Amino acid sequence: MKHYTHHSLKSLHTFGMDVCASHFVEYDSVEELQALLIRLQSEWATLPWLHIGGGSNLLFSSDTFQGVVMHSAIGGWQVVMEDETSVHLRVGAGVVWDELVAHCVNQGWGGMENLSLIPGEVGASAVQNIGAYGIEAKDLIVSVETIEVATGSERTFECDECDYGYRQSIFKGKLKGKYIVTHVTYRLQKQPIFRLDYGNIRLELERMGGEITLDAIRRAVINIRESKLPDPKVMGNAGSFFMNPVVARTMMEHIRKEYPQMPYYEVDVDHVKIPAGWMIEQCGWKGKAMGRAAVHDRQALVLVNLGGATGREVMALSDAVRHDVKEKFGIDIRPEVNFIM
Ligand code: EPU
Repeated sequence: MKHYTHHSLKSLHTFGMDVCASHFVEYDSVEELQALLIRLQSEWATLPWLHIGGGSNLLFSSDTFQGVVMHSAIGGWQVVMEDETSVHLRVGAGVVWDELVAHCVNQGWGGMENLSLIPGEVGASAVQNIGAYGIEAKDLIVSVETIEVATGSERTFECDECDYGYRQSIFKGKLKGKYIVTHVTYRLQKQPIFRLDYGNIRLELERMGGEITLDAIRRAVINIRESKLPDPKVMGNAGSFFMNPVVARTMMEHIRKEYPQMPYYEVDVDHVKIPAGWMIEQCGWKGKAMGRAAVHDRQALVLVNLGGATGREVMALSDAVRHDVKEKFGIDIRPEVNFIM
């Protein structure tokens, strides 16, 4: 186990603010996590704690975190089941998500290719139910292995016990802060079914030319993401800052009377999802700055740190954007990013 005191989290979260944690601890096995949880309940019992993954969904309100920040370095992947059509792969929570996607694509296993280049790690993929281009992590998850914070005991959740929804899970909801993910098992397909009808994937594949393969889809997704989303190494950001709101179909129909060009996605008979990025752009925020924080000029769902922005500056921008969207469309858009106060 690695333990550092007064540790800078600057390189450990993608908004890139210089936040100092009183303790930063990294463990690389279930046993080490269990030992760490004992310390958390004794020596560090009075301190708040925070478990981070790749730090791609975090915004700190202050430049210090007076508590314990934990990070999983549980690595490795192994095939735990294989038949003619599918493979079940058990993966450590600390594995970098996109390295896993690249591995599966190289093996010819389908399922994850549309989720290429999403920042973050495997543990968070199961908590956040990450998604892009018509696929969500829940579509691939078989089970999630965890450790209960209070007792250190192991518990495996089958996918249908995880209450998955759009960017939602039991680990963010009812059981928030109660379990830490250690391993996730995914189901991949040996005869992949390509999902090309979402966003510009098909268009990009046509532009690229050549055969449609898992690798080509991965490259197309990477091209699209790189063209719209800022590289956190160059400009701090946390990907989509807001979730796309799910609203009543009647509300969407009402707004479309005034904005017939408004895009939307089907959710169920009574609900649709409206792209928050579109609404933010309509409010005139795309490319606009407030202090050292700004709305990205190529994708309005992304807030960026122009350099030296504080968490409070980004939160102020978020509030201003939310206010204007609410006023113009009557819809409250909610941050996907976790605010650490
Ligand atoms: N749009 C605009 N202006 C903008 C941004 C978007 O008009 O500035 C419109 C687009 O033209 C399109 C629609 O909004 O009609 C949707 O845009 P896009 O395909 O870029 O996706 P999104 O809904 O903004 C979601 C995910 C992304 C994921 C993409 C692709 C959320 C919160 N975000 O964004 O996930 O990559 O779909 O599937 O659901 C992330 O979570 O960090 C992330 C990047």
